[in-house]
Amino acid sequence: MPKAIISPSVLASDFGQLSAECKRMIKSGADWLHMDIMDGHFVPNITMGAPILSCIKKGVPEIFMDCHMMVAQPEKWVDDIADAGGALYCFHIEATDSPLPLIAQIKARGMKAGVAVSPDTTSAAITDEIGEAADMLLVMTVYPGRGGQKFIERCVPKVAELRSRFPNKDIEVDGGVSPATVGVCADAGSNVIVAGTAIFGSKDPGQAIKSLKEAVDL
Ligand code: DX5
Ligand code: ZN
Repeated sequence: MPKAIISPSVLASDFGQLSAECKRMIKSGADWLHMDIMDGHFVPNITMGAPILSCIKKGVPEIFMDCHMMVAQPEKWVDDIADAGGALYCFHIEATDSPLPLIAQIKARGMKAGVAVSPDTTSAAITDEIGEAADMLLVMTVYPGRGGQKFIERCVPKVAELRSRFPNKDIEVDGGVSPATVGVCADAGSNVIVAGTAIFGSKDPGQAIKSLKEAVDL
């Protein structure tokens, strides 16, 4: 299994201090920063877009921005996110009829390509061809749209199914993941752990990151 990667979700941070919050997380041991892009169409909320990412990248050049695109028409934002310094562009399989051309478009702009599945989508939606073409697969463990929701354990078998077909890919879990729920995700084969509330809400984010990482690397 690939190595553990911890990606704190900045959705749970103080949006007035985004660069400082990202720096604080990197100092605390974060490998990536998870940027939740919501467009008010694919999900009801609106969060941030490329202009904000671009400012963060200027303030924190060493950042690896793991961009979770909860957007309709994901092909529309590839160039903007690449120009803003996005390192990984993860789109939802539910949002496109043309995943393979989209993966090629993302890679052509020098980003890693990720494919996400929402709780009601089966892992079979990620065909062998799509999974092989992608760099990362994201299994949502809450319904996309907002932070601080309860972990949905019935999503976890999808991680195991994907891990059995794609032994060397990064497999990310996102939503309600904490030191209490990370164990089942790691046992199923997830190596990229997103956590918002559990890290930003912790008195000691460094310790929270460490314990999430240890659960994967056990
Ligand atoms: C939900 C987002 C998640 C969320 C995670 O739509 O994709 O990234 O912010 O936050 P927590 O860890 O608080 O569930
Ligand atoms: Zn997310």
